[in-house]
This record gives sequence, C-alpha cells and structure tokens, in this order.
Amino acid sequence: MTTKRTGRAAAKSAHSLRPHILVLHGPNLNLLGSREPQHYGVATLDDINQDLVGRGEAAGALVETFQHNHEGALIERIHQAARDHADFIIINPAGYTHTSVAMRDALAASAIPFVEIHLSNIYARESFRHHSYFSDLAVGVVSGLGAQGYELALEYALRHIQNRTSHGSQKTEKAH
Ligand code: DQA
Repeated sequence: MTTKRTGRAAAKSAHSLRPHILVLHGPNLNLLGSREPQHYGVATLDDINQDLVGRGEAAGALVETFQHNHEGALIERIHQAARDHADFIIINPAGYTHTSVAMRDALAASAIPFVEIHLSNIYARESFRHHSYFSDLAVGVVSGLGAQGYELALEYALRHIQNRTSHGSQKTEKAH
C-alpha cells in the first residue's frame, strides 16, 4: 500500500523525514555572556546552541543554529531554510525585531511556522522595544525567560511538528 503525502511532507520526503528546526540569532547575540548580563544573562551563545542541538539529537531532530550581525545574511538563511523544507524556526531577531520589515517579509515568504524569542522582557524595557515586526506572524512569542526560553521554544516546536505530522496522516487515512 502506498502512502499519499501532501505539501511540506511530500517535499520533505526527498530530504530527511526527521524534524528539522532552525534557530536564528540576530545581531550582537554573538556577545552573549559578556553583553549587558543584567538583561541577557551569563550564558554564551555557544552554551545555548549546544544545549539546543543536544536536546534536538535526544529527540531525534535536526537542530541547526545560525547567528549573524547583518540583516541580508539572516534573510538569505531564511530563504535557505525554505529551500531545505525546514519544519520550524526559532528566531531571536534581536535589534532587528524593532526595525526589519525585510526579515518579516522573508519569514512570511518562507511560510515556515516560527516562534519569536527574546531573552529579556521587551515590554519591561524602553518603549521602542515594545513594537515587533514579527509577533503577529509568529505562532507565539517568548520574552523575558532568559536562556530557558529557547528550551521551551524547542519543546514547543518539537510538539508542533509531531502534532502536524500525526494530523497529516489522519487526513491521509480519511481520504482513502
Ligand atoms: C533582545 C531584545 C532586543 O530589544 C535587543 O535589541 C536584543 C536582544 C532579547 O533577546 O531580549 O538585541 O532580542
């Protein structure tokens, strides 16, 4: 018996079927550990990335991480994720949260579901940080939980992918 696959699942079958999550970090996050620890904590970006990759491996998922200080490079990485048929993006757009229509457009074009994340509580800080160009497109937003926010976002992403996959196969069964 053959199984009919549709949409992203069909495209993914040419690639790996294991969940594929991209974690994107915006400008200045390479300085984590030493950068304004009162806002961003003491964990380095390597600490955060290693933890996420390890948790992904334990769950049978591929977790890729990418940090860049340039808007264009982040946009290119989102385009690449779409070509790779990534299942989910966890993104801390950092300063671009409050300025980047172009990164918003790239995420919209990719149609990859994403969680927006901030180490600090952006609503408890300067008013220019209260507006995000991403939040209304995001599945959800985690803000103010420090590095733990990334763990929670990853746990959510894994469950989101699992639910979507099992709902997808239920639809396939009903269609036959
Ligand atoms: C940040 C909050 C942004 O306002 C700031 O520009 C950052 C980091 C956070 O993780 O709390 O660079 O996204």
